[in-house]
Amino acid sequence: MFKPHLSRLKAYEPGPSIKEIKKAYGLDRLIKLDANENVYGASPKVGEAIAKSALLPSLYPDSTDGDVRGELARLLGARPGQFLFGCGLDEIIALVSRALLSPGDNIVMAWPTFYEYHNHAQIQGAETKKVPCDANGRHDLKGMLDAIDSHTRMVWICNPNNPTGTYVHAAELADFLRQVPQDVAVLLDEAYIDFVDAKDFPHSLDLLAAYPNLLVMRTFSKSYGLASFRIGYAIGQERLIQELNKVRPPFNTTRLSQIAAYAALKDQSFIKACIRKNHEVRKMMTAFFDKRQIPYYPSQTNFIYIKTENPQVIVEQCRRKGFLIQGFQDGVRVTIGKMSDMQDFLHVIEDCLSDAPAEPKV
Ligand SMILES: Cc1ncc(COP(=O)(O)O)c(C=O)c1O
Repeated sequence: MFKPHLSRLKAYEPGPSIKEIKKAYGLDRLIKLDANENVYGASPKVGEAIAKSALLPSLYPDSTDGDVRGELARLLGARPGQFLFGCGLDEIIALVSRALLSPGDNIVMAWPTFYEYHNHAQIQGAETKKVPCDANGRHDLKGMLDAIDSHTRMVWICNPNNPTGTYVHAAELADFLRQVPQDVAVLLDEAYIDFVDAKDFPHSLDLLAAYPNLLVMRTFSKSYGLASFRIGYAIGQERLIQELNKVRPPFNTTRLSQIAAYAALKDQSFIKACIRKNHEVRKMMTAFFDKRQIPYYPSQTNFIYIKTENPQVIVEQCRRKGFLIQGFQDGVRVTIGKMSDMQDFLHVIEDCLSDAPAEPKV
């Protein structure tokens, strides 16, 4: 009954809920540092806008996302026709894969990176070429270019990268784009761009005019703190957006998500304050790791990847002590939380890591 390649796939398995973990470990408090959400919540203006709005539950939402589109175009200096909206950036990844991939095609992506790129390639029956990140947790762009062949339809660049937190520099990206064939889409996932403070981070929107195959993607789930509303978007040349729009369900963002995103965009001072606090805590954490020679990748995001040989043990120990973090193959990813929580967390992780031998600093 089903497409044959679906047999290779597994449905997303959510972990236990906060309530279940607290009960299982007898915890009064559990600090959630596993999904890179905004630990400061969302702008209070979001709640106010929703409370004030007419609910209109029986009417379909605005299929054009007109208010959010207009405000984003103004803020980013783009034309309204350059945007495509989705039920989270997750749906944008699904839409792009649906529009571009067929069985026999392949995609090129880094490894580790955001898993959904691979997942949606599989759903479309395409293959994934995973190019390992280098020893510093960075995209190996030369390796990725070499991996492109005549069946490659898209290359994913997660910038900054989830889970390593590292980034591709402006000059590297410009050089890469010049070498990618024009009929291969370059998908630049900038979910965490607002947390970047590196001076040589690419101004990707300035590259759009020169590259009809480039699509930049962003979300309201991270710095804007609207993960539960599910709204994200892509920006590209109008022709590319028009083609992608053909595979978009007409009402894929809800009225409440549009109201929330618009109100959040209008309160830039809240976002700036969140970013400032994130940078303070990020600095404090990396100074702590440097002093104790704990190996980590330098982060441009709201999370840090700490290298360890036994990530699952560390995840489990942190859980017992009231911190929920995410384990990967050779490390753990920790959302940068509030200052006081992270001061507590650092002592917990230091104890956990000293029980487990650490690798040399990268
Ligand atoms: C790199 C990256 N891209 C996309 C997403 C999906 O974001 P959204 O919540 O908008 O679906 C995430 C979520 O964690 C992410 O880390």
